[in-house]
Amino acid sequence: MNPSRRPLICGNWKMNHGGPSGVELAMAVARLAKAYPRVDLAVAPPFTALAACAHECEAANVAVAAQDLHPGASGAFTGEVSGPMLRDAGCTWVIVGHSERRQRFGDTDAWVAEKAAAALSHGLSPIVCVGEKLAEREAGTTLTVVKVQVDAVVDVLAGATQPVAIAYEPVWAIGTGKNATPADAEEVHAAIRGWLHDRSPGLAARTRILYGGSLKGDNAPGLLGCANVDGGLIGGASLDAVAFGAIAQAAQAIAAG
Ligand code: 13P
Repeated sequence: MNPSRRPLICGNWKMNHGGPSGVELAMAVARLAKAYPRVDLAVAPPFTALAACAHECEAANVAVAAQDLHPGASGAFTGEVSGPMLRDAGCTWVIVGHSERRQRFGDTDAWVAEKAAAALSHGLSPIVCVGEKLAEREAGTTLTVVKVQVDAVVDVLAGATQPVAIAYEPVWAIGTGKNATPADAEEVHAAIRGWLHDRSPGLAARTRILYGGSLKGDNAPGLLGCANVDGGLIGGASLDAVAFGAIAQAAQAIAAG
């Protein structure tokens, strides 16, 4: 972490806790938040729970993120949800380009860039996910693959006036219990910072680069302690307030020096 950037710890609930249990989890996270004054906390519930969770989170300064959006503002797009709708539901962040969407729902780099641009134009901050698959890591092409994904959004992010984040989530580490080592994560995070710097030093300085992939309380101190890791995007461990709090606690300890 770098003292010039506040850590962002965001729980991506994926397709879990879309009803009353989500409201309970949001309330539990909101209760925890005051213990971590140096950390920006966010939760990303399913669409069905966004408004109710935002209601619980508002007073505690816990941000609410959506897990995706459609780039259009409105129209005949059955099943889709737009940026203005997410704003109305109380979101300030939106995840775009998660590997589960890239792999299973056909989100391409161009489509992810369109979503990020739409998010910004509707007043939402994007968290753009990037990351290599196991075969790409084993073939030694990690940085090449991730650079293509970052290049697709760098102009969009450079034009932003609100906060933006990139989440480096190695696909082989998601939900597998196999996290990247701090050294492996830092190598990719430092490379991403460098590509952002090539586009604009200001963009590199203000963009928070999050790590995601089997992040837990026990590996968080090492991963969040890396110079270019500015927080985390957490799946499994965000489904339990105590486990999520342990990661926030690690971020708080590092940020407090
Ligand atoms: P896990 O923390 O369950 O590995 O998920 C990471 C992730 O995909 C967050 O977006």
